[in-house]
Amino acid sequence: MVRLSSAALSIHAIVLVLFLLHLHVGVAAFPLSKDSSSYVLQTDEDLNLNQNNQNCTDHPPRQHLYDVVVTELDAVGNHNASLISRINGSSDFEFNFNPAWFPVQQQQHDSHDTVDGLIVRLVDSQKHPEWVNAGALAVVPVNLNNKPMAVRNKVTESMVTWAGAEQQPTPTQPWGAADPRITYRPKTQQYYLTWDNCTKNCWPHRVTYLSTTDNPLDPQGWTFHGPVFPFAYTSGAALLFRDDTDKTHNDNNTHPTHLAFICNSNTADTIYIAESKNDGLNWTIPKDPSRRILMKGRPGCWDAKGVAAGPQPERIPTTGDYLLIYNIDTGWPYHPNPLGRCAIGWAILDGKDPTKIVARAIKPLLIASRPWETCPNHHRGDSDCQVPMVVFASGLKPIGNNQYLVIYGAGDAVVGVSKIQVVTRNREGTNQ
Ligand SMILES: *[C@@H]1O[C@H](CO)[C@@H](O)[C@H](O)[C@H]1NC(C)=O
Ligand SMILES: *[C@@H]1O[C@H](CO)[C@@H](O)[C@H](O)[C@H]1NC(C)=O
Ligand SMILES: *[C@@H]1O[C@H](CO)[C@@H](O)[C@H](O)[C@H]1NC(C)=O
Ligand SMILES: *[C@@H]1O[C@H](CO)[C@@H](O)[C@H](O)[C@H]1NC(C)=O
Ligand SMILES: *[C@@H]1O[C@H](CO)[C@@H](O)[C@H](O)[C@H]1NC(C)=O
Ligand SMILES: *[C@@H]1O[C@H](CO)[C@@H](O)[C@H](O)[C@H]1NC(C)=O
Repeated sequence: MVRLSSAALSIHAIVLVLFLLHLHVGVAAFPLSKDSSSYVLQTDEDLNLNQNNQNCTDHPPRQHLYDVVVTELDAVGNHNASLISRINGSSDFEFNFNPAWFPVQQQQHDSHDTVDGLIVRLVDSQKHPEWVNAGALAVVPVNLNNKPMAVRNKVTESMVTWAGAEQQPTPTQPWGAADPRITYRPKTQQYYLTWDNCTKNCWPHRVTYLSTTDNPLDPQGWTFHGPVFPFAYTSGAALLFRDDTDKTHNDNNTHPTHLAFICNSNTADTIYIAESKNDGLNWTIPKDPSRRILMKGRPGCWDAKGVAAGPQPERIPTTGDYLLIYNIDTGWPYHPNPLGRCAIGWAILDGKDPTKIVARAIKPLLIASRPWETCPNHHRGDSDCQVPMVVFASGLKPIGNNQYLVIYGAGDAVVGVSKIQVVTRNREGTNQ
């Protein structure tokens, strides 16, 4: 999720005080006062999702042609359990979240059946106080072809990477990494990793870095490019490369620019757009003001309170448009919200001009519902969960037939995987 702890970042003054006192700000320092029953939200009816959306007046142009539905809540053979958690033995670390997904290329395959990779954010205040509560990144080889996590893929120290950054955190100079997202670019066979330096609860600075590599599984292979995005305070970026769209497909007969969808800050109220002409390393603000903002929260809609980028957008093969998964961050429980703290939504971006949204979720795709997402015992000191009522996606794997795996952090503590389907309709409204 964008913010590190629900309380700390909505109240900058507290963060500043703690910062000045040089306290280690652990999330557990902010116990939640809510009754446990208010954590558990189960059905659409409980949530009154339609009523929640009743004042929503947003009608993007191709809304009637699209829907996105969850077809399998736990999609990798781990029935009613998360994919990665310390409690069930798949990680050595306290909290494992913000998972980004990348495809492993044939030539990088190890002798095992690794076909996927995850970049996972780790937080462990006991083992690594020098990461502060931001964390570190681990590169985790996995196989998401409906197999539970293999023992050899357990998240360990050897998987931690600083993605080419020369300086690493030390006890005398603590800092930490947060919110990774990764995009594979077939044309150059490069992987582009965006990640945040979010030291001391991101106060007063938070900055998104870019690192690239041709093999994420090689810890030495990364090149660090630093803060490449043209904004003062950023909180994560999802990249879309458009090498597959030649200029004859563009209305204006120009080569389309690559796009970065960038979260603005802890207030999570806008996803901004930056563009890059060809190298994907030099990013600028679009000249045309109408192309500078991808989305904001929509007043009267379920996602009124704050939006944050999700994973890289993926092409929908049958229509040519793009699927964008995004997150909301409501500031719950300090700002009451029936959806809890973070939930996951979708938007469809125009295939020719992905700065334009052509359809968008009228209710959340995924909300916190299972104990490892709602964390009913958190207020009683249960430390298996970091932030209650959170599902926050930063991974998306296309698996064919307009189906995708959404890979998300739950409770800012464990990694979950759900299968979704993009349902397209023809103009008469029949499912295709
Ligand atoms: C919708 O708007 C009406 C009129 O302003 C208001 O009474 C109602 O509470 C709103 N509903 C929601 C769910 O916000
Ligand atoms: C998973 O949870 C659901 C609802 O809580 C339950 O109906 C189902 O039997 C569970 N499945 C497994 C495999 O435990
Ligand atoms: C751990 O495994 C048990 C048994 O499969 C499951 O019920 C539970 O939800 C799992 N916990 C997490 C955090 O995945
Ligand atoms: C991250 O931020 C901290 C604190 O501002 C700083 O000391 C550290 O050098 C930064 N890390 C990198 C890789 O720039
Ligand atoms: C980055 O791109 C902008 C706009 O395309 C261009 O004006 C600028 O010279 C480029 N900078 C570098 C360092 O390549
Ligand atoms: C094409 O150019 C027009 C006029 O300058 C502009 O409004 C439109 O956004 C452009 N479309 C694309 C896909 O760049």
